[in-house]
Amino acid sequence: MPGKRIMLDVLRGEPVFPPPIWMMRQAGRYLPEYRETRKRAGSFLDLCYDPDLAVEVTLQPIARFGFDASILFSDILVVPNALGRDVRFEEGRGPMLTPISASEIAGLTGDLFHVNLEPVYETVRRLRAKLPDETTLIGFCGAPWTVATYMIAGQGTPDQAPARLFAYREPEAFARLLKVLADHSAAYLIRQIEAGADVVQIFDSWSGVLDEPSFQAFCVEPVAEIARQVKAVHPDVPVIGFPKGAGERYRDYRSKTGITGLGLDWTVPLSMAKELQLGGAVQGNLDPLRLVAGGKALADGVDAILRRLGGGPLIFNLGHGITPETPIAHVEAMVKQVRSATR
Ligand code: CP3
Repeated sequence: MPGKRIMLDVLRGEPVFPPPIWMMRQAGRYLPEYRETRKRAGSFLDLCYDPDLAVEVTLQPIARFGFDASILFSDILVVPNALGRDVRFEEGRGPMLTPISASEIAGLTGDLFHVNLEPVYETVRRLRAKLPDETTLIGFCGAPWTVATYMIAGQGTPDQAPARLFAYREPEAFARLLKVLADHSAAYLIRQIEAGADVVQIFDSWSGVLDEPSFQAFCVEPVAEIARQVKAVHPDVPVIGFPKGAGERYRDYRSKTGITGLGLDWTVPLSMAKELQLGGAVQGNLDPLRLVAGGKALADGVDAILRRLGGGPLIFNLGHGITPETPIAHVEAMVKQVRSATR
C-alpha cells in the first residue's frame, strides 16, 4: 500500500518524524556483498543491464539497513549508451566515453533507445514485486547538463571546462544535445514509473560550475522540460531535483523547474535549508565524510540536521554519494541515531 510509504508522505509536504532515510549510492563498493556480486558480472555496465544481478545489488542495502527507500541500481550514463554512444567504466578511472562532436550531435537518434534500456525496466518491475510494501522505489536519470559533460569530455574532469567551452563555441549543437537528452530522459523516467518506480530523481551533479546565464539555460530549463513531460503523464509522481553545488540558486530552483522535492548538497547551510523547506520537502544533507569519520563528527552532523529540519518535510540523506571507504558500522550508527530520534 503506497499509503505506508512514508517518503511519499514527506514528498506531499507532511512532516514525518523520525524522517525517512536512504543514502545516495547506497548500493556500492563500501558493501562486501556488492563487491562479491560485482566480480560475477563482466563490466560495470553488464551489471547495470543484467536484471538478476541489478536486482540483487539494489536489494543489498535494504536487507542490511532497512532503508525507507530503494534506488534502482544503474548509472546516469546508460542514457548516452542507449543513444548509441560508446561508454566504458575502467577500474579506478571512472567512466570513459568517446567524446561527441558537433556533427555527431546533429545525427544523434534514439531509434533503439527503449530496446536498449529494456533490461533496466525489467529490473524496476522485479524490484517493485520484491521490495517490502513500505519501501519507496526511486527511479533516476542524470540531468542533461551533467550527462552532456561526460559525453563531451569523454571522462570526468574537475571543472567541466571541455563542456563549458563546447557550449560557448557550438551553441546550436549544444542546445540540440540538451534537447535530445531532456526528451529521452523524460521518456526514460516515464517508463521507469510505468515499470513501478514511485518517485524519480534527477541528478545534476555538475550544476555548480556554471555562470548565471548558463545555469538557467543548461540546468534549469532542461530539468524543467523533463519535469513538465513527466508530470504531463504522471502528475502525482514526485520528482526530486538534485542540483549539486547550486548555492544561492537553490532558492528558486524548485519554483523554476517544477520539481517536487529538493536534494541538498552538504554545503547548503541549515538556515537556508529551513527556508527551502517552506516550499516543500528537502532531502539531505550530511557531509559524506562525516560518515567516513564516524564518532562525534557523525553524531553532531546527524543531530544538527534532525534538530533544524526535523519539524518540516525532511528526507534524511547524505549531501552526495557514500564513498567506498565508509565503514559499515558508521552507516549502522547513523541509521540508529535517525530512527531513535525524539523531538
Ligand atoms: O545510488 C545508488 O545506489 C544507485 C546507483 C547509482 C550509480 N551511479 C552506481 C555506480 C547512481 C544513482 C549513480 C549516479 C551517477 N553516476 C551520478 C550522479 C550522482 C553522483 O554521484 O554525482 C554520476 C555523476 C555518475 C557517473 C559515474 N558512475 C561516475 C563518475 C562513476 C565513477 C566514480 C565512482 O564512484 O566509481 C560511476 C561508477 C559507478 N556508478 C559505480 C556505482 C556503484 C562504481 C563502479 C564500480 O562498481 O566499479
